[in-house]
This record gives sequence, C-alpha cells and structure tokens, in this order.
Amino acid sequence: MKTIKDFDLNNKKVIIRVDFNVPIKDGIILDDTRIKESLKTIKYAIDNNAKVILMSHLGRIKDETDKLKNTLKPVSTKLSELLNKNVIFVPNTRGEELENAINNLKNGEVLLMENTRFEDLPDKKESKNDPELGKYWASLGDIYINDAFGTAHRAHASNVGIASNLPSGIGFLIQKELDNLLPAINNPNRPFTVILGGAKVSDKIGVIENIVKKADYILIGGGMAFTFLKAEGIEIGSSLLDIESIDFCKKILKENENKIILPIDVVTDQKECFITDITMEERGLDIGRKTVKLFKQYLDISKTIIWNGPVGMFEEKKYSHGTEEICQILKNIDAIKIAGGGDTASAIKNLGYECAFTHISTGGGASLELLEGKVLPGIDVIK
Ligand code: 3PG
Repeated sequence: MKTIKDFDLNNKKVIIRVDFNVPIKDGIILDDTRIKESLKTIKYAIDNNAKVILMSHLGRIKDETDKLKNTLKPVSTKLSELLNKNVIFVPNTRGEELENAINNLKNGEVLLMENTRFEDLPDKKESKNDPELGKYWASLGDIYINDAFGTAHRAHASNVGIASNLPSGIGFLIQKELDNLLPAINNPNRPFTVILGGAKVSDKIGVIENIVKKADYILIGGGMAFTFLKAEGIEIGSSLLDIESIDFCKKILKENENKIILPIDVVTDQKECFITDITMEERGLDIGRKTVKLFKQYLDISKTIIWNGPVGMFEEKKYSHGTEEICQILKNIDAIKIAGGGDTASAIKNLGYECAFTHISTGGGASLELLEGKVLPGIDVIK
C-alpha cells in the first residue's frame, strides 16, 4: 500500500484527510489526542514543501443547529498552537472562497476547511459518498493522503470518494495503527487474551464471533458481563441486561467453556459481593476484587493483550477500581498490550496509565471493525 513517503510532495496541493472528531465543549477541546497524533503526517508534508489542505468531519450534522455546534474553528486554533504556525481556516466546504484560498497557498502553508459533514445537509452527500462531491474535492488537490484511522470504517466522500479520483496513500497514523493492530489480531504471540467491556453485548457480537476463533482467553467485564451471567442462569438484579443477546451468550458460552471468563464478584450500588448474591434491587457497576485476581491469572501469562471497553462505570470514582486495577496489572506485564475504543482510551488517559500500553488506538468503531475481521473501506480504497 502506498504511503505518504512514496510521493514527491514538493509544490503539490496535498489533501490530508485527518480525524479531528474530538470532544469539544463551549469551544474548548477536551481531548486533543487525535490532533496530536496527526501532527507527524502534517509536519512531514510541510517539511516536504507541500501546500497542505486538511479535511475532517466533526460530530454528526442533522440540522442547522448542529452546524453551529460542530464548526472546526476551535480545532484550527488548537492545531495552529501545536504546529506553532498559522493555519488558514476556511469556513466553507466548497465554492470560490475555498478554491481561491487553496490556489493562493504557498509551499509549506496549511489550510483547514470546514467540517466535511456540513455537506450532509440536506441530503447526506458526505456520508453517502456522493460521487460528484468526491470528484469535486479531489479536483482541489494533486495528491490525497488518508490519515483518518478513526473514520476508516466509513465509506464517505472525504475518504473513499476522493481516493477514487486522485493518486492516494496513507499517512503515518494509519500506518502506525495497522502496524500495531493487524499483527496483534492476526498473528499474536500466545497466549492471546482479549478483555471486553462496555455496555451492550449487541455492539460486540461481531467482535466476539471473530475473536473467539483467534484468542486463547476472553475476559468479560463491564455492563455486558451481566447479560452473559444472566445467560448462565444467575440473578443479576437491576443490572444492565441486553435481553436480545441472551441466546447468543448462551451459545457462545456453551461452545467456548474454558475460553470465556466471566466475573465471579461484583461491586453493586450497595455492596461488593459474589455474583450469586446480587439482590433484585441492586445494580452491578464494576467488577469485584476477586474477579480482578482471577483476570490477573490470565493476564500474567499472556503475551498479547487487546482491551476494548472499560470493565466498570469508570466515570464514577467509586466504580473505577476494576478498570484501574486492570491498568495496573497491565503496567507490570511484559507483553504486547493494545487498547482500542473511545471509552477505554479515555479511561486509560484519565487514570494516567498511557505508558502501560504498547499502543492506544485513536479509532473506536474502526478498531472494533478490525477486531471483527472486517475490511475498512477508507483503507481498502487505497490498496
Ligand atoms: C469516531 O469518532 O469514531 C470517528 O470519528 C467516526 O465518527 P462517526 O461514528 O460519527 O462516523
């Protein structure tokens, strides 16, 4: 697959699709990881005398008020700070102002255009990969580099559309993600253990079906563990239940008896107890200390570990113990340790354990789809 290094960027208009879909509140960027992770590719293009045209989506645009909330203007200010360089922000996604600004770019200058999903009003041109839009955006540049790993599972005009119309390659971030994720999933050092958490089993059915064929152990925590426990006939009180996934859980547990490891104790809104002691009124919100010990036995012997989904409601301090203990265990283990998913990454960051990991993916949906064994259209189009 071609990468940015395979192109002569000198004096070329280089469109770089980045994923600047970052959390913003009242104009303040709450987590700038994705912006920082895109710097290597942007700086490389600057250093190689490209005219750099950046594109990204932000949020989902369903009506005009979404546009006000999801302008990329604050990202352009942040990027300018991080690059220590002026970033020209164009508040449009097409038209004369954008075209003139691009044509006036000098080598080494950087321009960020407005949120690509503004084109979703009125008829989802970006998200439905409207062929004319892809062609139009491609006409603005000479070379296309996709570095938006977080968006690679989408087939949109700003990735698949442009790449179908211009010489294309991937940037350093997508390269790094693939270099870490693919060998861990497809050719892991063994034992290979996957920790799965998060709320709903239904969100992870594809992952479980694929990964159960590859992993030696799957440790299940978080809200989704309660549907598995219910499938085993355990009373889970008012804990989260994904009723439609019970039959799936029964089947997968039956077929993989020694591979899928469930919690043996739990922290509820009232106490810490064995899972068999949850009362009707109680809600399980974290794994208990005995489960941490049990999971540790599997993690200690593992040589590849992939983690997707916090094992408890880590946003509340009193239910973050399980997730923090898993971080602590991983910190002391010599293995390939990879985390994926927005919640998992933010839990690790908030708890201060980034250094415990070999790789923390910038992709939520994209890393999940790789775990499901799916092809990512935003990358496949470049192959
Ligand atoms: C993400 O944050 O997962 C990506 O930026 C994709 O966003 P989307 O789910 O709105 O397509």
